[in-house]
Amino acid sequence: VVLVVGNPANTNCLIAAKCAPSIPKENFSCLTRLDHNRARSQVAMRCGVPATQVKNVIIWGNHSSTQYPDVHHCLVNISGSEVPCYDAVKDDAWLQGDFISQRGAAVIKARKLSSAMSAAKAICDHMRDIWSGTPEGEFTSMGVYSTGNSYGVQKDLIYSFPVHIKDKSFKIVDGLPINDFSRSKMDATAAELIEERDTALAFLDL
Ligand SMILES: *[C@@H]1O[C@H](CO)[C@@H](O)[C@H](O)[C@H]1NC(C)=O
Ligand SMILES: *[C@@H]1O[C@H](CO)[C@@H](O)[C@H](O)[C@H]1NC(C)=O
Ligand SMILES: *[C@@H]1O[C@H](CO)[C@@H](O)[C@H](O)[C@H]1NC(C)=O
Repeated sequence: VVLVVGNPANTNCLIAAKCAPSIPKENFSCLTRLDHNRARSQVAMRCGVPATQVKNVIIWGNHSSTQYPDVHHCLVNISGSEVPCYDAVKDDAWLQGDFISQRGAAVIKARKLSSAMSAAKAICDHMRDIWSGTPEGEFTSMGVYSTGNSYGVQKDLIYSFPVHIKDKSFKIVDGLPINDFSRSKMDATAAELIEERDTALAFLDL
């Protein structure tokens, strides 16, 4: 398994995969777990629960400001019952605004929770999940190779998807309903990645 962390991580990962054609494309991944962990802890803080009680947030796309943290499929365990994130947070304006633009990340830093949110921890989380798998019914986020068969994301991009991991291999979690709000954000981050890929590949003559 190859994990690319250095930015621009998605495109660097794609270039690595193309330069090593003997390694299957599925064996390459890039890190979006830091963003995933951050999204999870922001929701947890809002709900007054530990981050372990928040599951199934999704980071779509590039590891950048256009990435889309999506909580339409996220559940928060509040005193023993699993509540959809939008109902638990009860602040749609925040979820569709500052939460996505990640102004909350600054709050986490200010509260000195950043060490728990470090890239090093995210790398360990990413690798541990590949090794041990994700619990049944749960998924995490990883930048992986798009074959063009999931969520209308163009083929030949490294794009962050929700993935379920079992027996040391990942599967994109397909078939989640996507509303118009999500669709436009997912397309915007894909468009950026396409542009970056095409520039990089032209430059490297790949
Ligand atoms: C690709 O990943 C699979 C599953 O983890 C592993 O068995 C295989 O050895 C890897 N291939 C290479 C060339 O690294
Ligand atoms: C994708 O994200 C990386 C890391 O933040 C950034 O360097 C790169 O410019 C982004 N790509 C685009 C096209 O925005
Ligand atoms: C939810 O949290 C409670 C503790 O508050 C725990 O006992 C229970 O197992 C959790 N449920 C799920 C589905 O994680």
